[in-house]
Amino acid sequence: MTTAASNQNMTWTPKASEIAREAGARLREFFVQGVETEYKGDVDLVTVADRTVEKLILARLTEVFSDHGIYGEEGTRERLDGEFRWYVDPLDGTTNFAHGFPQFCVSMGLEQRKAGLKDEEDGQLMAAVIYDPMRDELYEAERGKGATLNGKSITVSKIASLAESLVATGFPSKKRHRNPNIHFYHEITLRSHGVRRAGSAALDLAYVAAGRLEGFWEFNLNSWDTAAGILLVEEAGGRVSNFSGGPFQLNSAETLVSNGLIHDELVKVFEDLFAGRDLMPLPSPEEFAAMRRDREQGSGN
Ligand code: IPD
Ligand code: CA
Ligand code: CA
Repeated sequence: MTTAASNQNMTWTPKASEIAREAGARLREFFVQGVETEYKGDVDLVTVADRTVEKLILARLTEVFSDHGIYGEEGTRERLDGEFRWYVDPLDGTTNFAHGFPQFCVSMGLEQRKAGLKDEEDGQLMAAVIYDPMRDELYEAERGKGATLNGKSITVSKIASLAESLVATGFPSKKRHRNPNIHFYHEITLRSHGVRRAGSAALDLAYVAAGRLEGFWEFNLNSWDTAAGILLVEEAGGRVSNFSGGPFQLNSAETLVSNGLIHDELVKVFEDLFAGRDLMPLPSPEEFAAMRRDREQGSGN
């Protein structure tokens, strides 16, 4: 990784970033005018903005990288047998967007898949673009060339203990909710400066790369959520893994990233929590209600 990245040395991001900016501008227009929310399946939200912007990105990527494949959240599955493949999330943070909460982005990550790779095997992430249209923040990275925010080189933070860290996580929609993340949220809140849950996994990853967060984890993300952000974190000098510290995989069932310095500590917390060790006692709602009643009686009310 080099420390200073300049857009001129980049192979794919100049064109991809133009597309992300155009896509982001469309999202901003939809956001300002307000859109109706629909349900995709029984719980996931989707809006006209998600669909329109995915179509726009598909058309633009096809114009500039005609032999590249595209794998998009809203159903695009184009040219997936080639060497290069873009994972596209046209709107990461749909629930925020639908509620007028201005935390969302466009995320595009490019994977190179050498011949002979099996479907379930990952290739190499080569390029990443994440654009936050509300803050006009463009994150870019290419393998071996560093990561930038609005053209300036970024690196992960230097904080070396979880106790002094600000970290983030996310909770997916109900359908994918069969996981114990609420326990991890609770425990890591008690062991750090705090856990943010801002609703856009791609921006959470970009924030780790930019040194705004020391770490991030989530259960059961998808490749379109993580492909770009993972490369950004790596190129900014951070570490990415599964929950045991082993290799991260693009199906993203387990995503754990950090500035590198707190990674082993986080992996140890995961190991302890999965083993049921070191859980800090938390009153159940019933126990809390009993304490409340006692308090009220004690104060004579
Ligand atoms: C969601 C966001 C959210 C994360 C969910 C994702 P979407 O993506 O990244 O932060 O917690 O797991 O599904 O649906 O808004 O594109
Ligand atoms: Ca997403
Ligand atoms: Ca999305």
